[in-house]
Amino acid sequence: MSVPQANGINVAVSARGLTKHYGHGESTVKALDGVDVDFAAGQFTAIMGPSGSGKSTLMHLLAGLDSASSGHAYLGSTEVTALNDDQLTMLRRDRVGFVFQSFNLLPMFDAEQNIFLPLTLANKKITADDRAWLHQLAETLGLTQRLSHRPSELSGGQQQRVAIARALISRPEVIFADEPTGNLDSRSGAEVLNFLRTSARELGRTIIMVTHDPAAAAYADRVVLIADGRIAGDIANPTPESVLAGLDALRTFDSTAA
Ligand SMILES: Nc1ncnc2c1ncn2[C@@H]1O[C@H](COP(=O)(O)OP(=O)(O)O)[C@@H](O)[C@H]1O
Ligand SMILES: [Mg+2]
Repeated sequence: MSVPQANGINVAVSARGLTKHYGHGESTVKALDGVDVDFAAGQFTAIMGPSGSGKSTLMHLLAGLDSASSGHAYLGSTEVTALNDDQLTMLRRDRVGFVFQSFNLLPMFDAEQNIFLPLTLANKKITADDRAWLHQLAETLGLTQRLSHRPSELSGGQQQRVAIARALISRPEVIFADEPTGNLDSRSGAEVLNFLRTSARELGRTIIMVTHDPAAAAYADRVVLIADGRIAGDIANPTPESVLAGLDALRTFDSTAA
């Protein structure tokens, strides 16, 4: 199967008929049910939908963290769903960055060591280029004065910004963020969301973020809605109001389907 092409748009990530079942027989859960979606390069997209609708599953399949039951996922011109385990390990290491709800920083390392960790783990030499990029990231993230602090000496918002810098340090093609502001107060959350938006607009990064917060989703360029493992809506230039209206429409859609 060839790589999907969208007219004039540089597609960074896509899914075709992507399906994931858990379990067997009567107890089978269809977590994803034939998802077709494209994510444009350099865009910040939010994925929203009710709890259990398949948001995390979609992200995990697109990023090669979990295997599909059927269908295809692509990262650039690579079919992720056709890779073996070793190829997936390399793809995750070299081409994607992850930000999770829990920051997952190593407590005995300072912020700078945590940010460089993906390079250290990949046995890469830290170059002058990497240092310049670290300082640009730290500057943009307001972490310059915090680089020699350990996680316990940082606020939640600062820790999540360190986690984002770590996700960006190897210049991945795509950043996947699953509820990145879920553990943050609204001010720290706004800092993180502003940075994700800046990363797309000024640094040209492709960002795909799962969130259940309409205010967070409104920072994105686009919101994709999921319900029952299927794409159920697509909102361009979202505002908190248009996102809420989209979610309301989903509820109506759910009750008529039931
Ligand atoms: N490892 C798993 N084993 C069995 N069922 C799972 C597993 N992971 C997710 N599911 C089920 O798949 C569906 C989608 O889950 P998930 O993608 O985590 O939803 P969301 O992130 O939108 O809350 C849910 O019904 C969930 O219970
Ligand atoms: Mg989830």
